[in-house]
Amino acid sequence: MTVLNSLIRPLVRDLHAYVPGEQPKIKGLIKLNTNENPYPPSPRVLAAVKAAVDGRLRLYPNPTARALREKLAKLHGCMPENIIVGNGSDEVLALAIRAFVEPTLEGRVPQVPNQSKSGTRGARPSKTVQYFTPSYSLYPVLADIHSAAKNVVSLKPDFGLPSVKELKHGKQWDFDAALTFVTTPNAPSGRGYKTLELEKLCRALKGVAVLDEAYVDFANENALKLALKFPHVLVARTFSKAYSLCFQRVGYFVGHPELIAALDKIRDSYNVNGLGQIAAVATLDDLKYYRANFKSIISTREWLGRELTKLGFRVLPSQTNFILAQPPKFPAQDWLQKLRDKKILVRWFSAPEVRNYLRITIGTQAEAAALVKAVRGIL
Ligand SMILES: Cc1ncc(COP(=O)(O)O)c(C=O)c1O
Repeated sequence: MTVLNSLIRPLVRDLHAYVPGEQPKIKGLIKLNTNENPYPPSPRVLAAVKAAVDGRLRLYPNPTARALREKLAKLHGCMPENIIVGNGSDEVLALAIRAFVEPTLEGRVPQVPNQSKSGTRGARPSKTVQYFTPSYSLYPVLADIHSAAKNVVSLKPDFGLPSVKELKHGKQWDFDAALTFVTTPNAPSGRGYKTLELEKLCRALKGVAVLDEAYVDFANENALKLALKFPHVLVARTFSKAYSLCFQRVGYFVGHPELIAALDKIRDSYNVNGLGQIAAVATLDDLKYYRANFKSIISTREWLGRELTKLGFRVLPSQTNFILAQPPKFPAQDWLQKLRDKKILVRWFSAPEVRNYLRITIGTQAEAAALVKAVRGIL
């Protein structure tokens, strides 16, 4: 061990950091690997951001993203106190672990659920962060950073949500988990879940439930009402995917003011940058533009699914801005390189449940057509 290494906490030394999708700067590359929106922010949003770039950059931004929270509250039919904004939804997900989950003293503990018999919310929850697999690959990293115990439970083979009855029967699910993340619609499968089944799951959980709705604008239903109905449910949303603002890093939670206030205590004072706040506010003033984009993306998604199916891919139904597709003829990992050789970048995950698939972000119709042409060439 080097001297400097010994200065680093063992937990951090052993940590496997989150691996974000590549952001290569290759001329002419069609980038379908990180679920970014192929359409730019609306002209009004760009104008608002440009107009804000002046001497005011020397000032701190509003510390509570007040104007943005007021607009979001109007949109969702709640109060600004129901909302906390973060530096992307990744930040609020991390805050939830820090606020609601006790770290374990010894670092990683065996993945054994702590099934208390108490059965009442408000009793001390277990120290567990719980989520389904596959789902957003950041959750285990956030849990590890916090030295939290993880309980990882498989989705059904078709990536459906197990019912409460099935979870009880399976015995692995921890209904007392301090914090449960549900990615809905699911990533990386793209599968959507009914609000009714999410409601049944939330009702049965004793700790905090986070419904991560990063992709919900491309879905048939959303579960926002559950965050306003159940005090222990938080819904996470982001401006990154549907609202073309990855670059600005703005995401938020909707939930009970008491949980929101707890999260508010532990965030950085100026966690949301000023231009991000301005861009997000302007976005909410121009929702018509974005709703038209959702329609285009959904129609391209359905077209691409049909075309790839004709070419022998097994394409899973998606309610997101990406599809998960099992390619024919070669292993999925080989396809990654074959497509890259044709200047098309998609995503492949090594996790056992999805290693036979490619995750393909829905681009413009022209990008989707280029992908289909490239696939034909490879076949
Ligand atoms: C399921 C899910 N949740 C949250 C996020 C994070 O989004 P943000 O850009 O708001 O941090 C992502 C981004 O890929 C995601 O896939």
